Amino acid sequence: MTRLFTPLTLRDVTVRNRLWVSPMCQYSAVDGVPQEWHHTHLAQFASGGAGLVVAEATAVSPEGRISPEDTGLWNDEQGDAWAPIVAAIRSRGAVAGVQLAHAGRKASTWSPFSGRRGSVAATDGGWSTVAPSAIAFDGYAEPVALDVAGIDRVVVDFASAARRAVAAGFQVLELHAAHGYLLHQFLSPLSNRRDDEYGGSLENRARLLLRALEAVTDAAPGVPVIVRFSATDWADGGWDADETATVARWAADRGADFFDISSGGLVAHQKLTTGPGYQVALAARVRREAGVPVNAVGMIDDAAHAERVLAEDAADAVMAGREWLRDPHYGLRAADELGAEIDYWPKQYLRARR
Ligand SMILES: Cc1cc2nc3c(=O)[nH]c(=O)nc-3n(C[C@H](O)[C@H](O)[C@H](O)COP(=O)(O)O)c2cc1C
Repeated sequence: MTRLFTPLTLRDVTVRNRLWVSPMCQYSAVDGVPQEWHHTHLAQFASGGAGLVVAEATAVSPEGRISPEDTGLWNDEQGDAWAPIVAAIRSRGAVAGVQLAHAGRKASTWSPFSGRRGSVAATDGGWSTVAPSAIAFDGYAEPVALDVAGIDRVVVDFASAARRAVAAGFQVLELHAAHGYLLHQFLSPLSNRRDDEYGGSLENRARLLLRALEAVTDAAPGVPVIVRFSATDWADGGWDADETATVARWAADRGADFFDISSGGLVAHQKLTTGPGYQVALAARVRREAGVPVNAVGMIDDAAHAERVLAEDAADAVMAGREWLRDPHYGLRAADELGAEIDYWPKQYLRARR
């Protein structure tokens, strides 16, 4: 058996393999409600052999959406619409996860299909954004610094969204603390200039994430929780891999089960060079320094590369994004390429198996 096709268990949930679908915004929801597109989009990866399918950044409150077309879990209509989508993923043998998110100062932006960039004005259906400090992301509208009551509300919103996610059938929850969104904005000294108990020291900057995590684990007892971090801001004076490892350890001690290691997104002046596996070393470092299980992600585009990442003990699983978009049956192809015997090739498609 290959490493990639060895199951992995998170609490009571066994994932059939370690080739997972990374969360990917589709900018195709209506009032936060997922549509037929989301159903077909996510179900196809489960048919295609994915282990865990993580649904896109799904806002815990309306003001937490990246764009007006983001999915949400802040009301029951959204929860009800997710349920058949989750059932489709699960009936195809994959584990269904969802990324719970709040975009903070990077909310209320135009979707990539709009042909426009930057913040959506109120007159165009946008809203005023919130953040740890009133510091804008380059080119976006200035956010309002959250007061403590506002922070408390964010925590409650994460818990309510977690409850709705579980009611819809999601088996794994991922907290989005990466890519410059609200939880990451609190972690990074470049976006967090607060002088209260949510800013300054690492402990203070991590407080919102850890509170949200605890609220989510209380709201969804026993449900595995993944935290996605950007392990560096790729910018001077920013959040880095050592801080990521420390906070990952704290999060693990408070009930997080797994860590999804990405990078960047906090500031426009980030300096990074992408290439095959460009974030693998960050994942390996967090895994080693924090002693926690992680997945690597980022331009790991073929089965042999994914297998190598696991064989080198750099990570415990691999997520891919764009490769699944290029080939929704990537999982079946990967098993074939590695010579892994899997029993979840869809019977309807068996005549195509080589
Ligand atoms: C269309 C698209 C949408 C994305 N949306 C999200 C998202 O909702 N949440 C997130 O954490 N990352 C998002 N990402 C980043 C991916 O999850 C992934 O980390 C990134 O694409 C690198 O992996 P890849 O090289 O395998 O695509 C998105 C990427 C793409 C291509």
